[in-house]
Amino acid sequence: MEVFLKDQSLSRIKTDLLVLPVKEHETRGTDIRLLDRILRGKLSQRIQKSKFAASEGSFLLHGTSGMLGATHLLLVGMGKEGEIGTDAWRKMAARGKREAEVIGAEEFGVYLPPDQQPEAIAGPIVEGALLASYRFDKYRSNSKPSANIRSMSLFRPGLKTTAGVKRSIERATALVPGVFLARDLVNEPPSVSTARYLGEQAKRHCRGAGLSVDVWGVKKIQEMRLAGLLAVNRGSAEEPRFIIIHYKPKGKASKKVALIGKGITFDSGGLSLKQPKSMETMKLDMAGGAAIIGAMSLLPELAPEVEVTGYIPTTDNLPGGSAQKPGDIIRYLNGKTVEVLNTDAEGRLILADGLALAAKTRPDCMINLATLTGACVIALGNEVAGLFSNQQPLADSLIRCGREAGEKLWQLPLVKEYREEIKSSIADIKNIGGSSGGAIMAALILQEFVGDVPWAHLDIAGPAFSEKDGLMCPRGGTGFGVRTLVQFFQTFEEASDHGRNYAGARRKF
Ligand code: BES
Ligand code: MN
Ligand code: ZN
Repeated sequence: MEVFLKDQSLSRIKTDLLVLPVKEHETRGTDIRLLDRILRGKLSQRIQKSKFAASEGSFLLHGTSGMLGATHLLLVGMGKEGEIGTDAWRKMAARGKREAEVIGAEEFGVYLPPDQQPEAIAGPIVEGALLASYRFDKYRSNSKPSANIRSMSLFRPGLKTTAGVKRSIERATALVPGVFLARDLVNEPPSVSTARYLGEQAKRHCRGAGLSVDVWGVKKIQEMRLAGLLAVNRGSAEEPRFIIIHYKPKGKASKKVALIGKGITFDSGGLSLKQPKSMETMKLDMAGGAAIIGAMSLLPELAPEVEVTGYIPTTDNLPGGSAQKPGDIIRYLNGKTVEVLNTDAEGRLILADGLALAAKTRPDCMINLATLTGACVIALGNEVAGLFSNQQPLADSLIRCGREAGEKLWQLPLVKEYREEIKSSIADIKNIGGSSGGAIMAALILQEFVGDVPWAHLDIAGPAFSEKDGLMCPRGGTGFGVRTLVQFFQTFEEASDHGRNYAGARRKF
């Protein structure tokens, strides 16, 4: 889809579909009144009849019967003034694209309201429209060729193509392939998207200046004593892999970031077997790893000045004849021992390897992404990821990055008092706590492996996978995390004094 910027007025623009963002209750603004005059009152009648009030997400499609340069008009509600964030612009554009498809248009135009800075909204608008075009239909025999929107125009009178507008659009465009890659990796069936496959895909997509991929097989994994990964893999017929993706910027790196992603390609629960219903979507369990592959695949093009290393332990979790058993004990490379009482709490077991390994390299910060607990889904639902951190400025920074990127993060506490619950009578800790506070218990277990490195844990069990078709993403993997990570790379690069100046960090976007 091509993007054009046009210096044009509302009444002049020639397009199949003219998308007009409208603030809540402002259905009688200057722009609408102007259009209404040209349409001889038809538009205001229609607004009244349909009770369109421009609440966020609402929309009204109106044919112009040849009275306007545009054949159709789409009013899109943006919600209340002051509450309109970047995501509202993404959703508005996604709605525009959807309705353009509905009417069989080949292009559409979006009006940029004069009270908005084009530098701030052009990127999100393009991003929303692009994200909306994702499909995963390679396994359908009768897939309809998807509607082909060739171009989108952003216009308003006096619009200038400044460097800022260009950068904003380029950045949004660059981001999308990483999100789509993460979605693809999750959507691929679990017997295709195996540990070996993930390693191959990482190698295939993480290429280019400064980027390299190392995929460790069983031997190397044994040599490196990645005991958690080996333990979880014991019930499987597939070999495990440990993927390491490394990005080194051209100049001197300002900071060193480590990313650790859960790569369980299918989670049956192991001997602590899940119910069939809970297993239906368990191919999603490598979404954390997929987000890291997706985000890191973009690094040569984005070229931030941070050094980034991604660690992805990957295997499926199955109850084969030599599967680990409840009661087994794992001894980790940092000396810690973990009594496995529930083999379905496997994510923390493999992440522990990644965290311990990454911590040894003393990065400036570590971020892990994992579809870790059902408890987090119960707490925060499917739109919001849980965030835990041992360093508040890092947490604050990630929340802000998420907000700007269109991904919601909500902080949950690392409650010291609950550590009592993960003590084992026979080893250092157990892999489960009591029956409540499951998301926190899991985070506390991870924390045992991070030492004093600034660390954040994103529990993306809810938002990694969407059970229903959405505007910007069809049912399936969402690619959650990719956009926050990219935003973070660019913020972190600019944070001059890590740990203290995060809050004041200037962002490019
Ligand atoms: N992969 C699951 C968590 C999950 C649940 C992700 C639902 C996405 C949607 C994880 O490995 C798991 O099974 N967690 C258990 C932990 C429990 C045994 C302590 C859970 O949440 O039930
Ligand atoms: Mn599990
Ligand atoms: Zn799992």
